[in-house]
Amino acid sequence: MQTVTLIPGDGIGPEITDSVIQILKAAGAQIEWEIQTAGSDVIETEGTPLPERVIESIKKNKVALKAPVTTPIGKGFRSVNVQLRKSLDLYANLRPCKNIAGIKTKFENVDLVIVRENTEDLYAGIERQIDEDTAESIKIITRKASLRIAEFAFEYALKNNRKTVHAVSKANICKLTDGLFLNCSREISQKYPQIEYKEILVDNLCMQLVQKPEQFDVLVLPNLYGDIVSDLCAGLIGGLGIAQGANIGLNAAVFEPVHGSAPDIKGQNKANPTALLLSAIEMLKYINQKDIAQKIENALFKTLKEGRFLTADLGGSATTLEYTKQIISNL
Ligand code: NAI
Repeated sequence: MQTVTLIPGDGIGPEITDSVIQILKAAGAQIEWEIQTAGSDVIETEGTPLPERVIESIKKNKVALKAPVTTPIGKGFRSVNVQLRKSLDLYANLRPCKNIAGIKTKFENVDLVIVRENTEDLYAGIERQIDEDTAESIKIITRKASLRIAEFAFEYALKNNRKTVHAVSKANICKLTDGLFLNCSREISQKYPQIEYKEILVDNLCMQLVQKPEQFDVLVLPNLYGDIVSDLCAGLIGGLGIAQGANIGLNAAVFEPVHGSAPDIKGQNKANPTALLLSAIEMLKYINQKDIAQKIENALFKTLKEGRFLTADLGGSATTLEYTKQIISNL
């Protein structure tokens, strides 16, 4: 039995968490959940959306499954996600994007992996108001963070039989910051002669991704470009409802979907739990419950391929509960 921290989040978070917990339980996952609330719902009672107990729980258990948490736009609290990734030094954000049988998209043969740097760039949150009409945000890129994310990308490529790593930047404009990121990627690439190393500018990448996504394998990007490009790639395979992710550091890993708390569909029983479920499947593999992971993956892919119980974001009319029940009956 493994203890795992569970953050049900807010918005659609609790609904999709219920669904995933039911499926994992039905499949026989050997997990004891340590539930830790976070987000807008705990601000009133605890004065912060990310109480220290959440961080402590993850530090102790070393692995967490996390549903999305709302970050209010503009003034107020700093993003729980950014804070969590920083305090646990979860420096690598891994987002695999692959077509799934049964989900129709405009693109075929998409099978790429985004490796996004998670701790710096414009997400360092160093902003100031210069005068009433001018605000400034500082982009931080360090050698340490760039080297380790490049190393992570190449190691991932090697261990997962990937052929190519593209380093993505805007180094023609951000010559110092993105230039440093690129130099570090080049340096690391020398240690991996068996993996082809390529460079691409982020604007060109976006165009190529919607023209010939099949040419890409592993992409390594600084934080902001990684954030934007991973939503684009989620769109290539059928949308945010099926895009999984993981934040990985040396001492802990937090598995979470790419999507946010979707306040527009909160409480309507129509959220798609697949992205969180795929994240949970990766978590099961990470904690060495590979057979259970495989069993759930088979049931999930069968349900999607049958196509009778798809949620609204995938063109169907099934509720979250109906979809969940169908996956459980396919286990
Ligand atoms: P969002 O990802 O929540 O929603 C974008 C669109 O996709 C909406 O139309 C939503 O209904 C749809 N969508 C997202 N997930 C879905 C699902 N599982 N099933 C069906 N439809 C789904 O992005 P948005 O609206 O920009 O952000 C909302 C909040 O979430 C913000 O406060 C943001 O900061 C937060 N957020 C949190 C993240 C996290 O906790 N890791 C990641 C991204 C955003």
